Amino acid sequence: MTNASACRRWLAAATPNLDEARDAVDRILRDGNRASDVISRIRALVRKADEEKERLDINHAMQEVAALTQGEVGRNRVALRMDLATDIPPLLGDRVQLQQVILNLVMNGVEAMASVADRPRELLIRSRQHESDKVLVAVRDSGIGIDRQNIEEIFNAFYTTKSQGMGMGLAISRSIIENHGGRLWAVANDGSGVTFEFALPVETIGATSNQPAGGFPE
Ligand SMILES: Nc1ncnc2c1ncn2[C@@H]1O[C@H](COP(=O)(O)OP(=O)(O)OP(=O)(O)O)[C@@H](O)[C@H]1O
Ligand SMILES: [Mg+2]
Repeated sequence: MTNASACRRWLAAATPNLDEARDAVDRILRDGNRASDVISRIRALVRKADEEKERLDINHAMQEVAALTQGEVGRNRVALRMDLATDIPPLLGDRVQLQQVILNLVMNGVEAMASVADRPRELLIRSRQHESDKVLVAVRDSGIGIDRQNIEEIFNAFYTTKSQGMGMGLAISRSIIENHGGRLWAVANDGSGVTFEFALPVETIGATSNQPAGGFPE
């Protein structure tokens, strides 16, 4: 970013300094390459960890994250509410990675409400059984929201609107969820704010997807 601003200044001068601008662009390219190396490595890490999956209770994982964020939530005057379904089957997953996803979504929600002064700052974390063989987790905020045309772009690495942001939270979160055979998406709320949702397959005992369960004739 610093190099890009420098480059801009070199070009905007009455007599543009092309040598300096070229050097700045070289540094931008170098940093960009370095950054994409970092992402490849993180992706590889996420993929490798997929052998570490354990049987886990997603509600419990969510409660631990909520406890962890209590300080930040309180400092930001956010009302955190949890609505957890009691009948959720266990799933196979990497607890730490899935908690990292939930943490990213909660922190994004809190940050999206930082400038909200004219309405309650509410964060709702929900779990639900979904489509008979999946679990759905939703994190809903009443923050500044996202333009509908950006709702896919926000998942791109380095997409950020925050001065201190890296733009990595959602990109990594999506990699993690997809690595668990699930999906992560965002929906603009009818009122203010956004709801992030992910669906993960529950643990199936014995059955595989290409084997019809039971074997009764149609
Ligand atoms: N709950 C939300 N409400 C509104 N905008 C959001 C929300 N969550 C994410 N965004 C938008 O998506 C962008 C990307 O989010 P992401 O978590 O990937 O990166 P970040 O929060 O900017 O930085 P970091 O890498 O530190 O997480 C944010 O900068 C913001 O513009
Ligand atoms: Mg983030």
